[in-house]
Amino acid sequence: MRDDPDIPRFRQLTEGPSVEIIFEGTRLTVPKGISLAAALLLHGLPAGRIGALSGSQRCAYCLIGQCFDCTMTIDGVPYRQACLTPVSEGMTAERQVA
Ligand code: FES
Repeated sequence: MRDDPDIPRFRQLTEGPSVEIIFEGTRLTVPKGISLAAALLLHGLPAGRIGALSGSQRCAYCLIGQCFDCTMTIDGVPYRQACLTPVSEGMTAERQVA
């Protein structure tokens, strides 16, 4: 299977209300009620931590709160799981080394 960067892997299936969040200083409009991890994946952004030992970019993997690869600083609080955190208006998020 070819990995074409122009074809999004995730897309929004239905239209509805949205909220605005800020990811590492960039404002994003995302569907209301979805998780932060899903919102970032929808925008093709990294939805995960930075490996503490390797320095490599991780990505949300399980999306059910088990792997902790989605650990981020959310609204100034570190070590929160983006896959278990619903987006809210004005939410801020940054990747973190974890
Ligand atoms: S993606 Fe696995 S815990 Fe969040």
